[in-house]
Amino acid sequence: MAINESGTKILLDGGDPAETKEIRGLLGRIDGQTTNPSLVAKNPVLKERIAAGHKLTVAEQKEEYKKIVQSISPLVGTAGVSIEVFADMNTAGEEMLAQGIEMYTWVQNAYIKYPCTPGGLHAAEMSVRQKMRVNMTLCFSQEQAAAVYAATKGTQTPVYVSPFIGRLDDHGQNGIDLIKNIKRMYASGDGHVQVLAASIRSVTHLLSVFATHAELATVPATVLRKWAAAGCPIEQQDVPSQAEPDHPVLSGIVYRELDLDRPWQSFNISHELTTKGIETFVADYRKTVS
Ligand code: G3P
Repeated sequence: MAINESGTKILLDGGDPAETKEIRGLLGRIDGQTTNPSLVAKNPVLKERIAAGHKLTVAEQKEEYKKIVQSISPLVGTAGVSIEVFADMNTAGEEMLAQGIEMYTWVQNAYIKYPCTPGGLHAAEMSVRQKMRVNMTLCFSQEQAAAVYAATKGTQTPVYVSPFIGRLDDHGQNGIDLIKNIKRMYASGDGHVQVLAASIRSVTHLLSVFATHAELATVPATVLRKWAAAGCPIEQQDVPSQAEPDHPVLSGIVYRELDLDRPWQSFNISHELTTKGIETFVADYRKTVS
């Protein structure tokens, strides 16, 4: 039996192969997995080493990340394993691309994660020309999603864009609206970019994502355990996020008409949550390296 008949592929959002095995056992299968510097820093083996006072060199951190990804890779399905490049606010596109090219060799089913910044979009544009699969992360606006579409146009390889719904909720905006708006905008496109809902905090979030018909959702183990305990419901309840106790009042995000044929550089892609997200990833990465 399919674990999810809503049509949305389920990915695990995590950095621990033991957890991947557990969730795969619970659900029967997992379509894919996403990783990021914060999740890797939480890997129990790495945490133990760091707690014992052994920080890693940059090369060792990369080797550990590679081992984690290689253990996860055979456990997941066709949605692949997303691997994130190291990027701070000054990392140039060429530098991200060089990391991406190397990480892409780690496993057969890699997707390289670049942030929705000018450097990340430049790296994505160059990556898809080399037929690499990419996942554009830290997406918080429809403009960023339009830029992802424009930067990767013409590719024969799948492209993911990852809107972070929970962090938009934290910011007082209804993150589910962003998913709906991007899906609506892409409906007039050629289908080369798939929406991967990320930063999912609850089963309610997950059911709301199913209702948007997003192609994929990446979900932490804590939420997947609750979803499994509830019998893996797929009812497409368009439950407003306002129902979440943590977020009693969320403002809606208004849809904008955007021309997907514009050059990606013409979209306003700056967003404070993208900047904040990069800062958090950098801080978590630095916890692991000396
Ligand atoms: O995939 C993105 C995710 O890891 C971020 O989740 O809960 O830190 O916003 P969160």
